[in-house]
Amino acid sequence: MNVTQAVQSRRSVRQFVDKPVEQAALRRVLEKAQRSPSGGNTQPWSAVIVTGDELARITAAIKAKAATAPLGEGGEYDIYPRGLDGRYEEQRRAVGKAMFDALGLTREDSAGRIAQMAKNWDSFGAPVQLFTYTRKYMGPPQWSDMGMWLQTVMLLLREEGLDSCAQEIWAMYGTYMRELLSIDDEHIFFCGMAIGYRDAEAAVNNFDVPRVQVSDVVRWEGFE
Ligand SMILES: Cc1cc2nc3c(=O)[nH]c(=O)nc-3n(C[C@H](O)[C@H](O)[C@H](O)COP(=O)(O)O)c2cc1C
Repeated sequence: MNVTQAVQSRRSVRQFVDKPVEQAALRRVLEKAQRSPSGGNTQPWSAVIVTGDELARITAAIKAKAATAPLGEGGEYDIYPRGLDGRYEEQRRAVGKAMFDALGLTREDSAGRIAQMAKNWDSFGAPVQLFTYTRKYMGPPQWSDMGMWLQTVMLLLREEGLDSCAQEIWAMYGTYMRELLSIDDEHIFFCGMAIGYRDAEAAVNNFDVPRVQVSDVVRWEGFE
């Protein structure tokens, strides 16, 4: 698999098959992903990778928490900026609509939509979670570095035949996530990442997620 194939075949997978993931494959991915770049080579990413009984413990705990605080509690950063607007807000809404449309969940079916969102807590059926965090004093450049590392991980997972879904929804309960993962107060929880093998037939894994044109985000200067 070349880089283009890895990029093109990666998508956020929201239904995984019941198939275990070999720890050796994850080790290979994480060893290689250490080559990700970061400003000043600070390598600001940290993670806990969880499976089996330990993942079941966290899943049960967060579901209990979500039942008592459905709108979140102890979030340590804004998942989206307040006042998100224009094309950013339109794109955010559009991907949600595309997913619910693929599943036949209408606007009126709020119970169905909530049930779909709640599948986040089951890692969409994936057997592995990668929970990420960094030091609280890290700023936007280091958060960007974390993103580079996450994308490197996601692409290398494709090379192993594995799939993923980054999940910042867990940050709705950031402080509690740190408690569950024994991460101290000097750190901030970032996101989870469900890892496993995709259910290739599932409608939720087959809807189109469009991108804006390059010309909408890049200005060319000085080219002939
Ligand atoms: C940092 C990060 C966090 C995300 N959090 C969630 C999440 O909590 N739940 C979810 O279903 N998708 C989540 N996504 C997936 C995005 O919705 C997805 O990347 C975007 O819609 C583009 O679609 P694609 O990844 O399938 O190309 C997240 C993606 C990123 C990069």
